[in-house]
Amino acid sequence: MIKVNENFSKLQESYLFSEIAKKVKQYETEHPDANVIRMGIGDVTRPICEASIKAMHSAVDDMGDSATFHGYGPEQGYRFLTECISRFDYAERGIQISSDEIFVSDGAKSDTGNIGDILSINNKVAVTDPVYPVYVDTNVMAGRAGEMTYEGKWSNIIYMPCTIENNFIPELPTSIPDVIYLCYPNNPTGTTLTKSQLKKWVDYALANKALILFDSAYEAYIQEDDVPHSIYEIEGAKKCAIEFRSFSKTAGFTGLRCGYTIVPKELTGYNENGEPVMLNKLWNRRQCTKFNGASYITQRAAEATYTDMGRKQIKETISYYMRNAKILRDGVEAIGLKAFGGINAPYVWVKTPEGLNSWEFFNKLLNECNIVGTPGVGFGPSGEGYFRLTAFGSYENTCEAVERMKKLNHKY
Ligand code: MLT
Repeated sequence: MIKVNENFSKLQESYLFSEIAKKVKQYETEHPDANVIRMGIGDVTRPICEASIKAMHSAVDDMGDSATFHGYGPEQGYRFLTECISRFDYAERGIQISSDEIFVSDGAKSDTGNIGDILSINNKVAVTDPVYPVYVDTNVMAGRAGEMTYEGKWSNIIYMPCTIENNFIPELPTSIPDVIYLCYPNNPTGTTLTKSQLKKWVDYALANKALILFDSAYEAYIQEDDVPHSIYEIEGAKKCAIEFRSFSKTAGFTGLRCGYTIVPKELTGYNENGEPVMLNKLWNRRQCTKFNGASYITQRAAEATYTDMGRKQIKETISYYMRNAKILRDGVEAIGLKAFGGINAPYVWVKTPEGLNSWEFFNKLLNECNIVGTPGVGFGPSGEGYFRLTAFGSYENTCEAVERMKKLNHKY
């Protein structure tokens, strides 16, 4: 008889963004004339930059000629791409990351979800709360999360609340975790840590032999100087952190799929005897077994984002979204609601009006303004009473959404 992984039965029926998509679809079926503005899932809307489009056309031609055809590529990514990553994303910031510490993949979602493969089931995991649901759900699937409690928390996960009360800066946990997920600039709150605030975490991880899983998928949105783009800007981080990056938000690859993970060679975990084990070796072994590399065409597109033209075009797109973020944040504040984020990130985190929880505000915005956002509680219990809006829409829709919100039938 086939036995299933029982951990899946502990999960909520569907993934947060699938749940929202279902609700919106139902609303649209019942209101076929509604012009719904989507600001829920953080999916980009601007086209991929011309430099990458050109590179893909040429890569397609390569595939049609036996002299330039590419079959299976290196599981870790083509050298032409890893060298660009090493030079432009790291060396230019004074960080030395070699090609064999870079693992190109189909995106940060897969990598942050799969990284648990190389970590013991007995690790104690800590997450900021609210949090990108992939970190928690994949630990539930693996059996590391324990049971769901009445507070909406998993019994074996350490939650580090990030709310107005602590200015969205997580405090060091009172019980010591083995694995700590950090995402900065943060999804969903759009808030950041300064270098000295991040250093506290690196020092803590080093002192406690803990691993930081650092998701910096939104680093390209950073505008302020004191906000680190990479955890490796902090001394000692190579000994305690894995970093995840993505071309999705940086270069509009949400539909194309490409990202990468840095596993420094000096980073070790420990076996049952307390002996150090190189995590780089384990991740390489995992990738070689379960992954055949991102496609050649995709990697050529990613490489083109590092050309002068590519960098310029990407910057323009990011400025476009950041203008939206400012319009959104100002617009939300103008109607009397508190807004956070949106300065170094494409997300604006809104305190819901007095008396409305996250889902009630979701329904209100959908019904009264035909705007879709994401209920904060979907990201964790401390997200209750908050709401996320993304700046990834068009400029016109962002302005229109702000106008519609002004007409919300509520006193703030
Ligand atoms: C989000 O809306 O949080 C993101 O789009 C999710 C993702 O990048 O997978």
